[in-house]
Amino acid sequence: MNARFDPAGPLRGQVRVPADKSISHRSAIIAAMASDPVRVRNYLNAADTRSTLNAIQVLGAIVQGEPDELVIRGVGLRHAQIPTERIDVGNAGTLMRLLPGWLAFQQGGSFKLDGDESIRRRPIDRIAEPLELMGAEIEARDGRYPPFTIHGASLTGISYTLPVASAQVKSCVLLAGLLSDQTTVIEPVPTRDHTERLLLHASASLEREGDPQRGYEIKVGNTDELDLDEIEVPGDLSSAAFLIAAGVLVKGSRLVLEGVGVNWTRTGFLRILERMGAIVLCEAEEVGGLGPSEPVCDVDVSNGPIEATTVEADEVPLTIDELPLVALMGCFAEGETVVRGAEELRVKESDRIETVVNGLRGLGADIEGTRDGFVVQGRGSLPGGRLAAHGDHRLALLGAVAGLASEQGVEVVGMEAAEISYPSFARDVEALSAAG
Ligand code: S3P
Repeated sequence: MNARFDPAGPLRGQVRVPADKSISHRSAIIAAMASDPVRVRNYLNAADTRSTLNAIQVLGAIVQGEPDELVIRGVGLRHAQIPTERIDVGNAGTLMRLLPGWLAFQQGGSFKLDGDESIRRRPIDRIAEPLELMGAEIEARDGRYPPFTIHGASLTGISYTLPVASAQVKSCVLLAGLLSDQTTVIEPVPTRDHTERLLLHASASLEREGDPQRGYEIKVGNTDELDLDEIEVPGDLSSAAFLIAAGVLVKGSRLVLEGVGVNWTRTGFLRILERMGAIVLCEAEEVGGLGPSEPVCDVDVSNGPIEATTVEADEVPLTIDELPLVALMGCFAEGETVVRGAEELRVKESDRIETVVNGLRGLGADIEGTRDGFVVQGRGSLPGGRLAAHGDHRLALLGAVAGLASEQGVEVVGMEAAEISYPSFARDVEALSAAG
């Protein structure tokens, strides 16, 4: 499906963005691991997180109600049902890399995971390595791609230093370590910590030491049961980021995004925008915080001029999904915007260095790709044209925002990819345009 996004008049008013995708995936998986029912409010109703609800049902959990308010009746830590069919993760990398952490300690059980064409290009050796060190056995296509099978075992605790700054790998090892005497994950650079927060909320034994500069050591183990009761999923900062970018770039805009999750491990994009001189007001969590809940606030965005900036490797994990938007902001900023140390972008839903650089260049941007990022020369405007989403939701949404801020509009080829995380984007833009 193609969709056109024409230069917008001012975007004004208030909207509530969709629920957080990362936290929704984790809520469903961790609720399925609990013994007592868990009420999940504001679960993300989108393709990726529906895959997670299907997966936990295949594993024996019961899901009742609507995404607004679900009740998930889990099977307990040790009693995942052994499915007769393969588990279809669809397009969801987070589901594919977190769920094996639980499945790896289902002794005697074998579980086959597979997904769509894009997921089959995404590596799983990054989780297979630690899970095998703990005692599970994994068979994967070409040793590193889906489909893959996990053979569960009694796991031993490990101390594991993350070779890539990945919250998905960290989360997988933390889940796998729950029953062990002690499992330690060392993350040299902080990554999103929603799993830690939910495990604390579930009264699991989890401790974290360190600081944002030196990184963290997270220890789990000796947890017999997870006890959750209720989870409220906040709005997704990564979805909000598209409207924040539109609000900063489109002349005369002033908008408020309600109920957005502002956990500091997710707000790197807001810190980058602040450096660029954008007017984005909110009470984001202080860097370094951790607790059993997720901080939430309204984000108030106004249009205004921006300056170029440089994003270095240590900042990348805290804004990994917003880097395509940093490239777009760079097109409008004064000066040269550089992103370095972001080679992980190459193994997302698409090779996001290639697709972002080719996509924005096709709209008239002055942007060069590098091995681990990109360099953009700001020209204060963007002509427009056609941008292909390549089945990647963040590319489709990038094209849409580019269109709103452009001179001649953008036709997004494959807009249906937005169903993965932000199905209501076009409607939200319409509401904000009407109010303007
Ligand atoms: C996610 C972590 C990030 C991010 C992805 C969601 C998560 O991936 O890009 O969209 O929910 O843990 P990596 O852990 O591979 O960096």
